[in-house]
Amino acid sequence: MKKITIITGASSGMGAEFASQLFNEYEFASDKKSAAQNREIWLIARSNEKLLQTAEKILSSKSPDSPAKTKIRTFSLDLTGTPGVYKFDGLLKSEAANEDFEVECLINNAGFGTYGPFDETSSEKELAMIELNCTALTGICSCVLKYLNSGSQIINVSSLAAFMPLGNFAVYAATKAYVLSFTVALAAELEPKGIKVCALCPGSVSTNFANVASNGKRKEVLHGRDPVKVVRHCLKKAKKGKKIILTFPKWKFLSFASRFAGKFTVAKLTYKFAKRPH
Ligand SMILES: NC(=O)c1ccc[n+]([C@@H]2O[C@H](COP(=O)([O-])OP(=O)(O)OC[C@H]3O[C@@H](n4cnc5c(N)ncnc54)[C@H](OP(=O)(O)O)[C@@H]3O)[C@@H](O)[C@H]2O)c1
Repeated sequence: MKKITIITGASSGMGAEFASQLFNEYEFASDKKSAAQNREIWLIARSNEKLLQTAEKILSSKSPDSPAKTKIRTFSLDLTGTPGVYKFDGLLKSEAANEDFEVECLINNAGFGTYGPFDETSSEKELAMIELNCTALTGICSCVLKYLNSGSQIINVSSLAAFMPLGNFAVYAATKAYVLSFTVALAAELEPKGIKVCALCPGSVSTNFANVASNGKRKEVLHGRDPVKVVRHCLKKAKKGKKIILTFPKWKFLSFASRFAGKFTVAKLTYKFAKRPH
C-alpha cells in the first residue's frame, strides 16, 4: 500500500527542512524493506510558488541517472480554521477514492505568531492564528486518524513558548500551550495502537517566523538556531517515541525551570522586558 508523509507549512523554514530530511531518509534507506516502499511526500502551504521551489530543491539532490523513488506532491491550501480542515479532508478523500494508502507520517507544522501586547495587535491576525495553530492542527489530526496504522507517526510543532504565559506574545504562547497539551493526551490515546505522537517545542529558530510575527519589521529571528539541527534531532527522538522534544540544553533548562517560576511573574517580566517590533 502507498505510504504518504504529509507536511503542513512546507514552503519554508522547518517544514521545508522536514521535507528535505525525510526525502533523503526514504531515498537512501539502507534497510531493503524500507527502501522498496511506494512513498509520497505531500507538501502543503498557501504559496504554490514556494512549494514548487522547495520540491525542486529537494529533488535536485538526485542525479538524472538515479531518479527519485519518492514522489513529492505540492498542494496550495490555506489551512485556516474549519474551512481549511474541510479542504484538507477533501484532499484525503479524493486520494482514497483513487488508491489505498496509509499516512506514515503527519507533521503539523504550519503556524505563525504575532509580536506585541494584545491591545496593540490586530485581533483579526490573532484570531487567524488560533484558527491555524489550534483549529487546523486539531482538525487535521482528526481527518488522518483513519489512515494511520501501527508504526505511523504524528509530529505536532508546538514551541518553548508553550510552557509559560508570555507578555507581548500572549495569544501565540496560549496556542502553543494548547498544542502541547492536546498532543501529549493524543499520544497517550494512540499509543496502544502503535501510533507515535510527539510535540516539538523549539525555542528561537532561524526561519521566516520573525518576519511574519513582526509584520515585516524584523527580518531575522534573534539568536535563531539552525533548523537543520532542530529537525534532525526531532526526527531521531520522534522515532524513539519521545513525547516532548526539546533540542538544546538551554531549551531543556528553560522548560524545566518553568515548573518553578510563577506564571504571572513570567508574564509580567516578559511584558516589561521582551519587547519586539510589531
Ligand atoms: N522559528 C521559530 O523560532 C519557532 C519557534 C517555535 C515554534 N515555531 C513554530 O514552527 C512552525 C513552523 O514555523 P517556521 O518557524 O518554520 O516559520 P515559517 O518559515 O514562517 O514557516 C511557516 C509555514 O507555515 C505556512 N503557513 C502559514 N500560514 C498558513 C496557512 N494559513 N495555511 C497553510 N500554511 C500556512 C507558511 O507557508 P505559506 O505562507 O506559503 O502559507 C510556511 O510554510 C510554526 O508552527 C511555528 O509556530 C517556530
